[in-house]
Amino acid sequence: MPLKRLHPLSITHWRSLFWMIAIIGIALGTWQFNRTFVVQAVGTTTGFDKSLMDAGAPTTQRNYVHVLSNVSGINQQFNLAATSSKGFTVSVSPTSITIPNGSSASITLSVTIPNGTDPGILDVETLTATNTPPAVPLSVKIMDTTLASTNTALNIPTAQMGTLANGVRSYSLTAAQGTTQFWPGVSTPTYGYNGSYLAPTLVITTGETIQLNVTNNLTETTTTHWHGLHLPPSMDGGPHQEIAVGTTWSPQFKVINEASTVWFHPHPHEVTHGPSGPTNSGTGATTGIQVYRGMAGMIIIRDADSNALRLPRYYGIDEFPVVIQDRQFNSDGSLHIAANSTGQRKGDAFIVNGTLAGHLQVPAQMVRFHVLNGSNFRFYNVGFSDNRSFSQIASDDGLLNSPVSRTRMIIAPGERMEIVVDLSDAQEQTVHFTNYSGELGDSLIPDYTADAYDRSNSVLFSMNVTAPTSDPVTSIPATLNSITRIDRSQATVENRLTLMIPPSINGKFFEMETINITSTLDTTEIWSVFNQSDEPHPIHIHGSPFQILARAAPPFVSGQPLPSGGTLPPDYEQGWKDTVIVHPGERVDLIKVASDYADPDSPFMYHCHLLEHEDDGMMGQYLVQEPFKSYEPLIIKP
Ligand code: C2O
Ligand code: CU
Repeated sequence: MPLKRLHPLSITHWRSLFWMIAIIGIALGTWQFNRTFVVQAVGTTTGFDKSLMDAGAPTTQRNYVHVLSNVSGINQQFNLAATSSKGFTVSVSPTSITIPNGSSASITLSVTIPNGTDPGILDVETLTATNTPPAVPLSVKIMDTTLASTNTALNIPTAQMGTLANGVRSYSLTAAQGTTQFWPGVSTPTYGYNGSYLAPTLVITTGETIQLNVTNNLTETTTTHWHGLHLPPSMDGGPHQEIAVGTTWSPQFKVINEASTVWFHPHPHEVTHGPSGPTNSGTGATTGIQVYRGMAGMIIIRDADSNALRLPRYYGIDEFPVVIQDRQFNSDGSLHIAANSTGQRKGDAFIVNGTLAGHLQVPAQMVRFHVLNGSNFRFYNVGFSDNRSFSQIASDDGLLNSPVSRTRMIIAPGERMEIVVDLSDAQEQTVHFTNYSGELGDSLIPDYTADAYDRSNSVLFSMNVTAPTSDPVTSIPATLNSITRIDRSQATVENRLTLMIPPSINGKFFEMETINITSTLDTTEIWSVFNQSDEPHPIHIHGSPFQILARAAPPFVSGQPLPSGGTLPPDYEQGWKDTVIVHPGERVDLIKVASDYADPDSPFMYHCHLLEHEDDGMMGQYLVQEPFKSYEPLIIKP
């Protein structure tokens, strides 16, 4: 009979993590018993001290304490054994124990870690038990992905409101190198804006004119792209707006986006490198590396309509940014910069807002999270450890028309989702914000490109629920926005993007000198994206946002008109978006208006937001031109 168990979780907070192991069904002759054992991880992991290892101690020990509860209905004797996937010495104590029905006993797993072991992934241990009277063996897998201390407060980047002078609100960002402590006592060289890793959260307001002053104090060229902001293409911060070392770039524009969560990150391509030479593997593209080193920040846009809604908006009290990233560390604590053998930068340590295994204090009421997948290559399937439902209130570029109740949410690199979760029933409890990728099987990431963390669950951070504030939000409005859906018939232009591996679009790799698409101002366009590869790609289009018309529309045939068809996406995908997952073999039709800004000299980008795909050339660029005007072609390449 199959043993039913939860997927391995990365354990960072032992006191409160709880597994239930159910053994269902055992046949003894014609008898059948249902026996359930409950295993609960309690107590603390002790004995690990990274500094001890650094100081040359040959080994250090990490102990896991579990409670095994016998609720099977009969008395049981267990013979316990443990193994370690990395071949570390692991022992279990006691090795044999009798637990009467209805009682519990503590067991301890001790893992001996040799000095010099990389931080990051420690081990997968398997605890097995053979029972007397015989039952299906009990097996518990423990995947320990972090060696972080369990009491680190989750970093909440400071909010920068800017300074208003002469009708312009200015914000300042300085990109520089620094060091960050992710692991206790270990300094990791990183990049950041106004700090060593990530950036302040910029809070901007629709209708205001803003100036964003970005100073490059790195030793290499960068650019700063405002992902999701609709602005003049020369202010967009794509590969053409380089910020040389030691200089400041100051784009100024009016905020026309509606209330939403957008973000910023470097977007250089083929840049001039600093004295230390190219920092990547040699393609000249460094977006993936600069982001991986820590360069990214969130922007929260407020507007009058959303301010009129009673939504949680006390930043750091009932409203929080959640920037999800994964990183791989070398044994000296530095970031493992080189891409893996399949050209991806993924990691086995999960970092939220720059904190590994963080704890966040949240009030027992409606709490809002601005969730951004700021990872280079990893998709997440997020939810709460007690499976409570939450309301998704916004997609990439605006509030949804109404909240959508969900328990899981797949989020691709570059996407943002705002959620509100009701924690009024959870005071004094700990709820984990968890990645449930293990539930997806191979439905999202195919085997050939997946790693262990695409197939297992991991705690991203933990929420300690405390008393509510004095004036909590207790319900959220049923109507949040009034988005009018654009009809397919309104489009007069079709752009077709065929996604291929090696990472390319329409069979072409990105070239700085090639304009791939020319749009006409105020024209409604269908962008039909067909994934001809075996893996999912999150496709991001700069400039104005789009709506998803249909998913899984029939593939197009070259030389033939675009076939319509496909199904309307789910509710939570019917709002404004700028990044969309396109699954293998799927055609997704997007509709957008090339509105507001035309510039014959500065293109907008569109690309896969898996940053290593983007760097490898899965990107193109489009110009928006004014109608009834003819231009000398800006950049010509046959
Ligand atoms: Cu977030 Cu063109 O990027
Ligand atoms: Cu891709």
